[in-house]
Amino acid sequence: MALHDDRKEYTKGILDDRCLGVDPLVQFADWLEAYRNTGAEDATAFALSTVSSQGEPDARIVLLKELRGRELVFFTNYRSKKGQDLEAHPRAHALFFWPALERQVRIFGSVARVSDQESLTYFASRPVGSQWGAAVSDQSQPVASREAMEERLLALSTANPNGVPRPPHWGGFALTAHRIEFWQGRASRLHDRIQYQHRADGTWSAQRLQP
Ligand SMILES: Cc1cc2nc3c(=O)[nH]c(=O)nc-3n(C[C@H](O)[C@H](O)[C@H](O)COP(=O)(O)O)c2cc1C
Repeated sequence: MALHDDRKEYTKGILDDRCLGVDPLVQFADWLEAYRNTGAEDATAFALSTVSSQGEPDARIVLLKELRGRELVFFTNYRSKKGQDLEAHPRAHALFFWPALERQVRIFGSVARVSDQESLTYFASRPVGSQWGAAVSDQSQPVASREAMEERLLALSTANPNGVPRPPHWGGFALTAHRIEFWQGRASRLHDRIQYQHRADGTWSAQRLQP
């Protein structure tokens, strides 16, 4: 496979110096909306990077379910690998890649569980199939076979055709942004990068980075 021959020019947008003065969360919301409007599938998906108690990095895709202020909310199983990593190191990195717009956003921040009430409300709003699936999955644990999981699902769905209560180990995390970097592809690999850092006084500092 001659991967080194795969080349393209990035020409779909610019990030000019006026962006240095904007609120990065407004900018992020604008970019997310623009990407959703392209009709891309899983437009809210991002790679969530964590670090284990052994110091090993790991990453996986999750879905952004809410953006409020500096918080990015996603839902998962608290006993999963990512849940354990976040217990050990409550800091994470969210990476969004929006190829149709030649954009990338990197968000680093601290992570905390959302309230039980918020998790209950969100769980109850999910389709019953998703509720059953979440309830029967010991996420990230080995299982003897697919059939074993399907039997558990069948038993649970037969006994609870209208859905199940939220398992206590399933819920949301909120990542509070401390650093946000926007990347816009440009011609000749002279891409635009603007990085924002949250200050203790609640404002953001901004600087342009070399590509
Ligand atoms: C498009 C897509 C969306 C996903 N969304 C979620 C999600 O919102 N929450 C979640 O726990 N896992 C989600 N997953 C599955 C995770 O990538 C991962 O396989 C799972 O959470 C187990 O990760 P862990 O073992 O590192 O905890 C998604 C996967 C894909 C490909």
